[in-house]
Order: sequence, then structure tokens, then C-alpha cells
Amino acid sequence: MARFHCHWQRVLICVCGTCICLVLLFVFLGVMVCSHMNKAAPQATIDALRSPKSPRFVAFGSFKSKNFASLPKTFWRLNEDSFWNQLQVAIDRHFNPILNAQNAVMAIKNKDIYDSVLRLSFLAVTNSESMRRKFEQLPQQMQDFVSRMNHRNYPVIMHSTNATCGAGAADEKEPPLLLLAIKSTELNFKNRQAIRQTWGQVGWVATHRKNSKRKQEIGGYIRRVFLMGKENPQDSGGDVAELLRMEGQNYGDIVQWNFSDTFFNLTLKDVLFWKWFSGHCGQTRFVFKGDDDVFVNTPNMIAYLHDELERPHAEHAMNEFMVGDVIGAAFPNRVKQSKYFVPDSFYNGLYPTYAGGGGVLYSGQMAKRLHELSGRVHLFPIDDVFVGMCMARLNVYPIRHPGFLTFDFPDNEEQEPCAYHTILLVHKRSPMQLIELWDSVSKTQNECWHVPLRVS
Ligand SMILES: *[C@@H]1O[C@H](CO)[C@@H](O)[C@H](O)[C@H]1NC(C)=O
Ligand SMILES: *[C@@H]1O[C@H](CO)[C@@H](O)[C@H](O)[C@H]1NC(C)=O
Ligand SMILES: *[C@@H]1O[C@H](CO)[C@@H](O)[C@H](O)[C@H]1NC(C)=O
Repeated sequence: MARFHCHWQRVLICVCGTCICLVLLFVFLGVMVCSHMNKAAPQATIDALRSPKSPRFVAFGSFKSKNFASLPKTFWRLNEDSFWNQLQVAIDRHFNPILNAQNAVMAIKNKDIYDSVLRLSFLAVTNSESMRRKFEQLPQQMQDFVSRMNHRNYPVIMHSTNATCGAGAADEKEPPLLLLAIKSTELNFKNRQAIRQTWGQVGWVATHRKNSKRKQEIGGYIRRVFLMGKENPQDSGGDVAELLRMEGQNYGDIVQWNFSDTFFNLTLKDVLFWKWFSGHCGQTRFVFKGDDDVFVNTPNMIAYLHDELERPHAEHAMNEFMVGDVIGAAFPNRVKQSKYFVPDSFYNGLYPTYAGGGGVLYSGQMAKRLHELSGRVHLFPIDDVFVGMCMARLNVYPIRHPGFLTFDFPDNEEQEPCAYHTILLVHKRSPMQLIELWDSVSKTQNECWHVPLRVS
């Protein structure tokens, strides 16, 4: 029995020894290949930009989800036939930390590189004969977009209170908790006015809860800013610049940039807002970015944010914090008549996971990270999708919260007495409705304060 045991031990040592040798050999080969790739990287970069077809392999980094932009059909072949995909593939390859480690490091130090890399990839793609033919077949609106997609540094033409982060800065005893950044247009005076009187009120906003330790009322300082482009005077039937200037002076909550306020230009508002935020809102904890036709239960939002801040490791989690109504693996709209129409020849593949539908909540850190990263993502005509594309490149994914009602209340739930106390946001409501709703929510505060937020 003892001899038998001994024999088996020897066989085991023999087999294991061989295995260990093989593993060591593979590790050695792996290291050799990697170091070779690193050395070869610099020449490959500009080549990759000039002829996006050359190297086939692209690793986008490690993704938690597969639903990222330009989703390849197979692991090693990317569909580069579409305009936007081809533009962005060259960029992603250029800054790929595995393929081009040096570029990734250089870009962190010097953001000006982004501009020239975007321009190079744009030239390379638009100079190709087949792409030019494709461009000519795009719908007019898309052609307008493409012809200006390399411009994003539009100047601020109105900014009522230069030094502060939106309206509501006077006498604050602590940094603002939440900045409401609302996309509006010149002619939506009524919407802005209704928001100012209702859910967009600035200053200290209290929830109806008390802090268990300090017995103080939980609340936070709110700031507000409207994000605007310029209306085409022909469309608006007159020049409203003077009225707008007065509005801005009066409320100090308008930031306007010099670009036309069209649907496909909405992405510019996100990009330029991130830049503005990074320059003006250093201390602000959270951003709510939304449309001017939504109803927000601001006290609920503040209570929710306090809960998030009290979680363990909250500081760290804030680096990746974005919540809203999350849409995963969406198909681009291929209906020609739709305002969201994106032809196959422009973008191919699924959309990345993104937060859509009227409003999204994210941390100040996230806004700054998006500002840094967005410089190396080509503009995309659908704003929410563009944000998703940037998020995917940061390897961060928005979290879904059932309190964001993009498609209104299900069934007759809206009729229930405390319905509006269970939500963070509902889309879409007219200015008139906002005022009525705010009034009724304020009146029912006492009877509904215990009602929890919606769960799915
Ligand atoms: C805001 O800043 C710009 C330049 O930075 C300046 O031209 C403008 O006068 C300032 N506006 C106010 C209201 O301070
Ligand atoms: C805004 O842009 C237009 C051209 O689109 C230009 O004519 C105008 O001077 C610009 N205004 C400002 C204030 O920069
Ligand atoms: C976006 O704004 C710019 C600057 O005003 C304008 O030239 C361009 O046509 C607009 N793009 C679209 C798609 O409307």
C-alpha cells in the first residue's frame, strides 16, 4: 500500500512539473509579445489615422457590458463602412491604452492633442471617395451636421453672472448640492418661467426628513441654469435677443452659446455645459441635466442624493455616479420621417447603454470626467446617445432608477393621491401643468411625506 502511494506521488510530480514549465513558457512568450507591441506603437498611430483600414485589431479596454458604441459583429472585425464608426475607430485606436500606451499618457497631459487628432481623422475619412459618395446620399439635416461636426468651441454670448455657478449663489453657507442645468430654447419663455416658480426654485430646499444624528432638517442648496443656443430669426418671426438679454439680467440663470439651436446641435449643449461647469462649479456635488418640459420632484431628489451620499464608499462611488431611465442596446432609428432618423451609412451598430428621456442626474466629478473625455469623441447628432458613448469610453454605465418616468405613469397610477410623491421626474408636462402639479404636491406634503420612492 505504501509503495503504491509513493508511485502515484512520482507520477503527480512528473505531470505537475511539466504543466508548470509550460505555464512559465507561455507567460514568457506573452511578456515578449506585449513589449514588442509597445515598441511598435508610435509609427502605427498616424498610419492608423490616415488609413483607418490598416490594423484590424482594436481592443476598447475592458467593458462591463457589451453594449458599447460601434459594436463589432465579431471580435476582430469592426464595421467601418459607416461614416461615424469610421471616424471614431481611428480615434479610439489612437488612444487605445494597450495598442498605443504613449498616446494615452500624452493625451492626459495635453488635451490640445484631441483637437488635432479629431481633425486628422475627419480629413482622412472625408477625403475618401467612397465616403464622399455616402455623404452626398445623407439627408440634408445630417449633411448640415457633418459639415459642422468639427466645430465645438462656440463662444458664450450670454452669461449673466460670470463668476458663479448658475443663479442662487447669494448667502450660501455650504457648497451647492445640486445644479439644475436645463436645456431650453429662446422662445420657451413660458417653460422657463414655470420652472423658476416651481421645481427649479433656487436657494435652500428642505426635504421633510430629519437627520437621525443631528436632528436637523435634511436639505441642500440648489442652483439653476438654462442652456441655450440661438434661434434662427427667420424661424422665430423676429429677433428676441433684447427680451432675452433682459431676462438674463433679471434672473442671472441663462448661459447662451453662439450656435443655432437645432435638434442635431443639442449635443453641443452637453459638451459646452461640461466645459462651463468645469470652469465655474468646482464645489457642486450633483448636476441634474434635463429638458424644459419635465416635472421634477426636487425635495425627493435631494433626499435621494443624501441617501446616496450616506452609503458606504460614497466618495468613491461618486466618480461613476449617473442615474436616470437607462436604455440598453438600443437600435438606431431607421424610419426616414423620424426626427431621430440615423441612416445605416452614418452609424452602424447598436447604441451604447445610455440614460435618456427628459432628465438625468450625475455627480460633479462625472461632469468633469465627461468634459475631459468628450474631447476625443466625435460629436453625434443624438445628445443622449453621445453622452452614452462618452460613458462607455470611461467604462462607466448609468444606473436605472424607477423614479424617472420617461413615458408617464403606468395605467391610472397618476390618479392616486400621493402619485407625484413617489417619483423623481416625469416627462412630459406643459408650463400650466407644472404650476398646478407643484401646487398640489406642496399641499399634500404632510399627508404624503412617508410615501417611499417608486420601485420597479
Ligand atoms: C463675463 O465675462 C466676459 C469675458 O470673460 C466679459 O466680456 C463680460 O463683460 C462678463 N460679463 C459680466 C456680466 O460680468
Ligand atoms: C455669432 O455667430 C455669427 C455667425 O454664425 C456671427 O456673425 C456673430 O458675429 C457671432 N456673434 C458673437 C457675439 O460672437
Ligand atoms: C449647428 O450650429 C451651427 C452654428 O450656428 C450651424 O452652422 C449648423 O448648421 C448647426 N447644425 C445643425 C445640424 O443644425
